[in-house]
Amino acid sequence: MHLGEDIDVDDFVICDYRVTTDLPMADAANAIAAEQSTGTWTDLSTTTSKIVDRYGARVLSIDGDLIRIAFPNEDFSIDIGGVPQILSVIAGNLFGLESVSKLRLEDVTFSKEILSMYKGPKFGVDGLRDLLGRPEKPLVGTIVKPKIGLSPKETANYVYEAGAGGLTNSKDDETLSNQKFCPIEDRTVAVAEALDRLESEGHRMMHAINVSTNGDKIVELAEKVQSWGAKELMVDVITCGFAAVQALAEDPSIKVPIHVHRTMHGALTRDPLHGISMLPITKLVRMCGGDALHIGTLGVGKMSGNPKGDLANLNACLDPVGGYRTVMPVCSGGVYPGMIGRMVQISGKNVQVQAGGGVSGHPGGVRKGAMAMCQAIDAAFQDIPVTEYAKDHTELHEAIVKWGYK
Ligand code: 3PG
Repeated sequence: MHLGEDIDVDDFVICDYRVTTDLPMADAANAIAAEQSTGTWTDLSTTTSKIVDRYGARVLSIDGDLIRIAFPNEDFSIDIGGVPQILSVIAGNLFGLESVSKLRLEDVTFSKEILSMYKGPKFGVDGLRDLLGRPEKPLVGTIVKPKIGLSPKETANYVYEAGAGGLTNSKDDETLSNQKFCPIEDRTVAVAEALDRLESEGHRMMHAINVSTNGDKIVELAEKVQSWGAKELMVDVITCGFAAVQALAEDPSIKVPIHVHRTMHGALTRDPLHGISMLPITKLVRMCGGDALHIGTLGVGKMSGNPKGDLANLNACLDPVGGYRTVMPVCSGGVYPGMIGRMVQISGKNVQVQAGGGVSGHPGGVRKGAMAMCQAIDAAFQDIPVTEYAKDHTELHEAIVKWGYK
């Protein structure tokens, strides 16, 4: 059902919501549009038709349980509000309204005016590929495991072994910060030495140091980590906030790429009827300047998700939008070599595939685990079935014997 007047899409931010309600859908949609713009639960002595006409959100369409609402550009702050204010409008009070039992923000399309307020990634896919000297093949990485407990020296040794096995990327895991067993300064310095050693041996690799912390400290921490030799930073976007990603990306002192992890996203994204899908999160991360972002494993790895939804996230990283650079989509979570062929078939080559357990759980250790991952990427890149390629690649064969293939 099309309800709204014809609008100029350049003047609005348009959101798709999935709504579960006992009310007639039109009533629920109007309640949402009102609550998120010029109305509340009752009529007001202070509002005017001029205010409602100019700033009121419009219900554009209702299609089963999907409603489309358009918010005028003018509802959004021109400078200081940032993503916190955007989220208050498109994903704020509406989740708690009594009149809807469940509600999910499925997608958002930002107008050119809003997009122009954000700069997007500084590096993105091309920048990461340039830094790594890897123009075509998928990037292939690891997450240092166990996620906590290794010392700086053990972490650096893991990174070196992973690079010696051919990996292009590695990273801290989301729970590693500055614990006593692995102080961030010592870890960053030790990892930088390992990366330099690899480079002197002819292999370029980067490792993302986790700088997730309080908002008032994150840029300062990132500057320090950079001065200790970090070649990439990692930030958890849901726990730290979009504004933290933007603060890092837009600060002129930060000169390395930002790898964006999404720990805790399942609390928002997992319920198919309630919360916020990964797609709006992906779009906001790109606006805020994330260079690489975890998008799911396309229905293949350990995290819940499905190929269609994850592919939409991947496309939101790579499709032309806002004049921004593209974001490197990262497939991570329960990945092992035998599933890479299927994953890359869905994702295409512009992807970073990474594995923690799928590298360090290899029977031959980290280096052989890294080799098996690289062999699986090579097989996928050349469109050769993984079992065929494993016939004369021992490390891949051993990985398949341990974990199988899909
Ligand atoms: C991640 O950061 O994606 C996870 O720590 C992946 O770990 P895994 O490859 O061992 O599942």
